[in-house]
Amino acid sequence: MHNHLKIPQSHAVYPGSFDPPTNGHLDVIARAAAIFPSVTVAVVVNPQKGSPFFTLDEREEMLRRCTSVYTNVSVAHFRGLLADYVRRIAADVIVKGLRVVSDFESEMSFAHMNRSLANVDTMFLMSDSSYSFVSSSLIKEVFLQEGDIAKYVPDVVLACMQQKRLAHGRK
Ligand code: PNS
Repeated sequence: MHNHLKIPQSHAVYPGSFDPPTNGHLDVIARAAAIFPSVTVAVVVNPQKGSPFFTLDEREEMLRRCTSVYTNVSVAHFRGLLADYVRRIAADVIVKGLRVVSDFESEMSFAHMNRSLANVDTMFLMSDSSYSFVSSSLIKEVFLQEGDIAKYVPDVVLACMQQKRLAHGRK
């Protein structure tokens, strides 16, 4: 799909809440997997955005199932500072996805902070423009109001979301 020259020896970390993983996340993972010899998709244990819809185990499991086609992608989790995690696993670069220009504003200060804390660079990959409006929070909102989210998440994630709704005794 992507014809990139791989950056030799580098280990990239793609961090996020992934609550849930979306097709936009998967697009960034596909791009990162084509560029870096090794990619760790790292799920933050406690997303800053309130209580998570999916547990940590569920988020990791969905990501594992969605990324099983990539031999150079693994899934892990971290708690605390991303900068400490990057140092702990001796990663070389942080990968972040950008959808729209406004994403860049906060990402730029995160990148500077992470470089200041751990001397690590952040590389930004632009997700496909068709995902520019897709976010985990919007997916959850549409889903919880009975909207159709099939276009925006992997099949595995859609099934897990439907299961979660059944477990809560709703439609
Ligand atoms: O998918 P998200 O919620 O946009 O991901 C945000 C994430 C996990 C990348 C960010 O919140 C993070 O790095 N959290 C770990 C705590 C930390 O290091 N905070 C300082 C960031 S400079």
